[in-house]
Amino acid sequence: MTLEPTPRHARITGTGSWLPPRRLSNDDMVTMLAARGIETSDQWIVERTGIRARHFADDGVTSSDLALHAARHALEAAGRAAADVDLIIVATSTPDMVFPSTASILQHKLGVHGCPAFDLQAVCSGFVYALAVADAMVRGGNARCALVVGAEVFSRILDFSDRTTCVLFGDGAGAVVLEASDTPGILASELHADGRHIEILCTPGTVAGGQVLGDPLLRMDGPAVFKLAVGVLDGAARAVLAKAGRSAADLDWLVPHQANIRIMQSTARKLKLPLDKLIATVDEHGNTSAASVPLALDVAVRSGRIQRGDTVMLEGVGGGFTWGAVLLDY
Ligand code: ACO
Repeated sequence: MTLEPTPRHARITGTGSWLPPRRLSNDDMVTMLAARGIETSDQWIVERTGIRARHFADDGVTSSDLALHAARHALEAAGRAAADVDLIIVATSTPDMVFPSTASILQHKLGVHGCPAFDLQAVCSGFVYALAVADAMVRGGNARCALVVGAEVFSRILDFSDRTTCVLFGDGAGAVVLEASDTPGILASELHADGRHIEILCTPGTVAGGQVLGDPLLRMDGPAVFKLAVGVLDGAARAVLAKAGRSAADLDWLVPHQANIRIMQSTARKLKLPLDKLIATVDEHGNTSAASVPLALDVAVRSGRIQRGDTVMLEGVGGGFTWGAVLLDY
């Protein structure tokens, strides 16, 4: 019997994404909220967040449905079939069911069976967490072809009577295929959580005794999240660069969590990165939580901005409070 050598690196070989077709512009949100007696405006939303539109899944469409589209696109880009996949991780806070995992459901929808599949819950940092875990599993010899997905239907947990949150979020999915490789690859990752800040961003309800207990809708203290996010993202960016022996000057692209253009630009400025190195897709899909980073990455790859060999930093931040960064050579 020949043993396969443990790979030294894990490398992204394909990306994919998917937005549900129902697109709501800011003006559509203005009309929708006006029917509830709530005032907002395109100008407020664009100036405070950079968001111009979001996509909402139709009733009955779940995170695994969106994940399936994104996964197929990523597999196609990598030149892989679903049968090649030996690990599936889905980052989501809006799973199809309490259990089993959305990853197990995705595996079944892909028509493959047997490989490990699990969900990872780190809210908007979920994809960055999932990629770091998949990297460790590939480099540890536990997988050779991992499918790492971020998929969300946040529209299901929005309170459409709360204008401070409901205009910010959307639905979508993004995916990458991460494979064992002799060349880098993921260079370093940096993950953090601080449970003291649970209450500034949460969906606190739960299911018990056959009923939803507590509040099942998203609650956010936006200014508190904003302040915390700007500080922790800068720290994670510097730490991951130091781990990899690189500097911010080596970065070709920054792909941060797509929540608010002001947070994203502030992170880029702190790293002294020109804003044309910032990948921003928040205008078109709003905050899609765990899906936002792989969605933005895929858009940048498919548009030809991110090229093979480029050095890219991915950053996530969100409820928990969680945050992290992954540095990679694409
Ligand atoms: N339309 C019009 N006016 C509004 C709206 C709206 N949709 N929402 C709030 N306002 C009003 C407020 O009522 C307030 O009015 P007042 O001054 O008369 O009281 C005013 O606008 C300012 O409100 P602030 O909350 O102070 O606005 P701010 O500039 O902080 O922007 C925002 C709010 C966009 C939410 C910002 O704080 C933010 O982006 N926070 C971070 C969100 C984020 O990054 N989340 C990432 C993680 S998400 C996750 O993990 C799920």
